[in-house]
This record gives sequence, structure tokens and C-alpha cells, in this order.
Amino acid sequence: MRKIIIAGNWKLNKTPREAAVLVEELKREVLDIESVDIVVCPPFTALDEVSDIVLDTNIFLGAQNVYWQDNGAFTGEVSAPMLKDLGVKYVIIGHSERRQYFGETDETVNKRLRAALTHGLTPLVCIGENLAEREANKTFDVIRQQCQGSFANLTDQEMQKIVLAYEPVWAIGTGKTATPAQAQEVHAFIRQLLGKLFNSQTAQWVRIQYGGSVTPENIAALIAQPDIDGALVGGASLKAPSFAAIVKAAKK
Ligand code: PGA
Repeated sequence: MRKIIIAGNWKLNKTPREAAVLVEELKREVLDIESVDIVVCPPFTALDEVSDIVLDTNIFLGAQNVYWQDNGAFTGEVSAPMLKDLGVKYVIIGHSERRQYFGETDETVNKRLRAALTHGLTPLVCIGENLAEREANKTFDVIRQQCQGSFANLTDQEMQKIVLAYEPVWAIGTGKTATPAQAQEVHAFIRQLLGKLFNSQTAQWVRIQYGGSVTPENIAALIAQPDIDGALVGGASLKAPSFAAIVKAAKK
């Protein structure tokens, strides 16, 4: 049985002080929930602050990116050992905004997730097609290519440590969610594909989140789908009541 995982991607939002207020409130709202893995991913500058607040709670700390080298002359980058030291457990890799605005490719996703795995961080790897690709009926081709490239040369054991997020780019921040059936179709395809790239146990084991305009209103129907194991939440994770409502509604 795959445990549901709900992660909040705060993107470029919240100063350390604002982050502290948000996570203090969230902590109270989700206090008694054990059946869902709850993750918050603040910007780098708020990790330290949030780390202290979620210590010994049911909320895990995540980062939004990681560089593949541990240290050296790489101005502006942040490494896995640095994140580990702050109590970070998860790291988002290959978000579509990174791919679109910062030149992220499947190859760099592969390098980043290897660094994360080496240091015991759980990668949340994002994949998904854009609107033009969907309209050209290329969704499955894009997903296949992203999975082959991102997960190249991983062992089954390594793959089992990864969480995937299927995020159709046209649904991110647009208020236009994929229907549960549309999402399930792609999630099932991804699981089938994992069964070809890896063994069937790995395919059954890996959790696949859905992301793109998830709200307290639409989460239940999404999570009811057999291959949807959680959500990566952007906008609705920036307020404690809406993120907590999503977490509560996701308890299967
Ligand atoms: P959204 O973002 O929930 O605001 O659509 C999701 C994401 O980008 O992870």
C-alpha cells in the first residue's frame, strides 16, 4: 500500500518570518494526521527557520532544488550536504518552471537526483507535458522521454526511493486542473512505463503525485484514482487552512 504524500511547493514566496507564521499555523491544523506524509518546501532562505518549527512533528521539510556537486566554485548553488545539515528530507527536482525558465533538462535532473540519493534526500521529480504537446497528442511521448532521461542508469533500489509528480504544465497556476480521468490515464501510463524500465515491484512501489491547480475542492476526486498517490500543491499551499484541508481530504 503506497502512503499518500502531499507536498507544498511555496515557490518564490515567503520571507523567513512569513514562513514561520505559515508553518506554525499548519502544524496546529494537521497535528493528529499520521496516515499522510506531509511535506513543505519553502525557499532556501526560509529552510532554517521552518526546520526548527517542524522538528519532531509530522511535517517533513523539503527544498525546491539542489545542485549536483557537494561544494566548489559554483556561485549561487546549494548542495545536498548543505540541505541535509538543515534537516531537509525531500527535494523537488525538475519542476516545469525550472525547465522553462532556468534551462533544466532531463540530463541535469538525472545529475541532481543522483546527488540527492547519495546524500539520503528523497527526490520529488516533476514531469509533464505542455499545452502544445497535449494538443498534438504527444503527452505519452513526452512522458516517456522525460522518464527515460531523468531515470537513466538508476537501479531498482534507487528508483524505489524516488517520488514522481505528474504535473501537466497547462494546469499549473492556471486554475485548470486535469480531470481525475485525464490524470489517472497518465498516471497509469507512467506506472506501466516504470514496469518496463524497472521491475514490476518498483512500478507498484513508486508514489506518483498529481500537481496543477490542486485545491481542497478537487483533491478528493483526484486521490480516489487508483494510481494517484498524493499531490504537489503550489498556490493552495500558501495558506495553512487550504493546505490543511487538502491534507485532510487526501486521507483515503
Ligand atoms: P499550482 O502549482 O498548484 O499553483 O498549480 C503546482 C506546482 O507548480 O507544483
